[in-house]
Amino acid sequence: MEDTNLLFKVVIIGDSGVGKSNLMTRYTTNEFSQDTPATIGVEFMTKSVKTEGRDVKVQIWDTAGQERFRAISRSIYHGAKGAMLVYDITNQQSFDNIPNWLAELRVHVSATCSIFLIGNKCDLEHLRAVKKDVADRFARDNGLSFLETSALEKTNVDKAFEWLVKSVY
Ligand code: GTP
Ligand code: MG
Repeated sequence: MEDTNLLFKVVIIGDSGVGKSNLMTRYTTNEFSQDTPATIGVEFMTKSVKTEGRDVKVQIWDTAGQERFRAISRSIYHGAKGAMLVYDITNQQSFDNIPNWLAELRVHVSATCSIFLIGNKCDLEHLRAVKKDVADRFARDNGLSFLETSALEKTNVDKAFEWLVKSVY
């Protein structure tokens, strides 16, 4: 009998301004905004997809990157089967903080949670601060999948979410 109730919870974390909210809206409603307000607390959106012939409801939890909301954001890890750890390729600091985000994630999610490292804003190649091979090496050393994306140009956004879903189902 087909299970019509598969729920896939994904959390998106990373520094403020790296593009987490736009990755979520690009994937779920195909929208992008140049001046998105900083997320306050947590927001979530869902998208129904078919994978390997099964219906899966992807529930995406978008968290606030700003430090003052961290206590609220931490409460959302429960039950996550996938996570996106996002930095901005033009912002070295956002990449330097990735080990901290990863450490926090590993404390709160189960060992089977699939974790994706995402270098967002790859449309801004002329402003690049984080080399792709450095990020790729970090991902491999830490057992993460890795892709560079652009929520603006839609590059690799669907692919990243699809890989994440497929890694679990
Ligand atoms: P917090 O909610 O504060 O944690 O930030 P966030 O990670 O959700 O960032 P948000 O999606 O609000 O995006 C921040 C800014 O970056 C906005 O001005 C977006 O328009 C811009 N932005 C997001 N993704 C991209 C991208 O792929 N390329 C470019 N050029 N700009 C982007
Ligand atoms: Mg946001």
